[in-house]
Amino acid sequence: MAVPSAKPGPRPTRRAFLGLLAVGGAGLASATYARYLEPDWLDVAEVTLDPLRFPAPRGLRILHLSDLHFGPHVPLALIERAVTLGLAQRPDLIALTGDFVTGRLRETAAYAAVLRRLAAVAPTFACLGNHDAIVAAGPVGEVARTAAVVRLLREARADVLINETREVAVRGGRIRVSGLGDLWTGQNHPARCLTPTRGPGREPLAHMLLNHNPDARLAAMPYHWDLMLCGHTHGGQLGVPGVAEWLAPVSDKSHIEGLRERSGRLIHITRGVGSLYGVRLFCRPQVSLLVVG
Ligand SMILES: [Fe+2]
Repeated sequence: MAVPSAKPGPRPTRRAFLGLLAVGGAGLASATYARYLEPDWLDVAEVTLDPLRFPAPRGLRILHLSDLHFGPHVPLALIERAVTLGLAQRPDLIALTGDFVTGRLRETAAYAAVLRRLAAVAPTFACLGNHDAIVAAGPVGEVARTAAVVRLLREARADVLINETREVAVRGGRIRVSGLGDLWTGQNHPARCLTPTRGPGREPLAHMLLNHNPDARLAAMPYHWDLMLCGHTHGGQLGVPGVAEWLAPVSDKSHIEGLRERSGRLIHITRGVGSLYGVRLFCRPQVSLLVVG
């Protein structure tokens, strides 16, 4: 019986081989950039706040830092550079909106020394994020993690607000600052520190609300506040339309970074300083400055 001879397949051409090489090279270059260059390349973003929406003293400068994520993928040196860049913007007031660590808190004294530079310049307020409580050990571990981060922030002279409100003198006027507990860790209780709106009208002072997860906006809407500062999304970390929204860990995908007005209130989401897994692509780490226009 005659054995059918195997038909030789088409031979790869030199052009196809070079094409594959180019695609592979571009992929490797993108991966190297996303892992080793962009996560370290801080961006300073300034936005103007409408004084009709946030009636604070004109010219007030608010530094907004979030998601520092000090841990295996985010060195303290990056956080220190973000602090230096932030202070160079001459802030009157500083807001830190959670996720100070990834994993176990370490080098507490050195970390506190870096953050203390902020409070040495301007009143500094902080709320906590989900990473400031999450730990595999369960409820006991969560309490320990939260306590450790709160201790770190107090050592850094930051005022930690967990469903609490303060009044602060800034730039010749006064404003209210509140901070909510984190949504995912079940500590988000706006009723404990905010006044219900119950019809039209406004509080006498501009009111800034620190709230790690922007999804908690809905629960906060029935209460008085003018400007909400959030983090949590990291801008999606991979800034490709569609992918960024998919990756951002929020239910409301319509707003994952920047300033937006929603139902007459201002909401600002910063991309944050650190990252998870040390990867960012077209979504640079951010130092945000908000200026009352
Ligand atoms: Fe985060």
